Amino acid sequence: MSKDSANNSQEKQAEQIISTWDSLALAYDRLLEKHSIFSVMASRLIELANATSCESVMDLAGGSGLLSKMLLSASAKTKIYFVEPAPQMMTLAKQQLDPAKTIFYQAKATEIDKFDLKVDAILSNAAMHLVDLEKVFKSVSTVLEAGGIFIFNLWWHAFEETAQEGKSLDWRPVLEKVLKEYNEEIPKWSNSKSKKPYSREMLRELATRSRLKLERVILDRDPIDRNFFIDFMSMYPDLPKAGLGDKRSQIIQRAKEICTGKAIVTTVRFLFRKT
Ligand SMILES: C[S@@+](CC[C@H](N)C(=O)[O-])C[C@H]1O[C@@H](n2cnc3c(N)ncnc32)[C@H](O)[C@@H]1O
Repeated sequence: MSKDSANNSQEKQAEQIISTWDSLALAYDRLLEKHSIFSVMASRLIELANATSCESVMDLAGGSGLLSKMLLSASAKTKIYFVEPAPQMMTLAKQQLDPAKTIFYQAKATEIDKFDLKVDAILSNAAMHLVDLEKVFKSVSTVLEAGGIFIFNLWWHAFEETAQEGKSLDWRPVLEKVLKEYNEEIPKWSNSKSKKPYSREMLRELATRSRLKLERVILDRDPIDRNFFIDFMSMYPDLPKAGLGDKRSQIIQRAKEICTGKAIVTTVRFLFRKT
């Protein structure tokens, strides 16, 4: 494949991911109210960045505004540069964030180098597994002040050292069991986690090319309701499979009855500094 067509297909994939998240915006915002894991992750990024003492912070791939909202309520002096490409996410974020303290950019993470601005810190919660990190490092580096920091987290499946940890979190075996109970055929699952996990060395090398130095890698482990994964899956209207009609809500309810208790979820924080 030529470089141009490889770029085109990556671009198409990025647009597809954004369009999916656009359609999930409302459901995602409801999921945030129900499960605390995203706020726990966001608060850890804020704490690691000491963001409440920063003058300017970019919330990259900010979704419906979770991290920015937390930061604005904790800091009177921080100005937020809020970046999110999905229009419906942006609408929700605008409803939640103080416009006097927030500048909104409807843009992809790879496009921030087009804006004429510099910030002290860039934070990104629960999103960098969705992007081409090599390109994002380049644009992040352009926007960061010298000495500025880029902090993001990855779910266990996107990092080589933790990729094997989440086997018990897979919702598919539970759904298979329930679909069988309902005499439904098991669908062919598309593997959204098929992207090769990043290794520490790969991240270090990609970032170094953009003058970003990897300073810290921190593993966090949290107990989580196993029901979270059923709720997450059920945001997607075609899961567990299309055409279930009224049965869908019964199947999801039954899966939640089976999938009880707690599991441990691992997330990883990365801190890069502009050299
Ligand atoms: C799981 S949500 C996380 C949102 C938010 N950071 C939070 O903590 O609630 C992932 C977000 O990444 C955004 N996203 C997907 N691809 C992106 C890209 N290429 N550039 C910037 N954001 C992207 C989606 O639109 C979505 O809002």
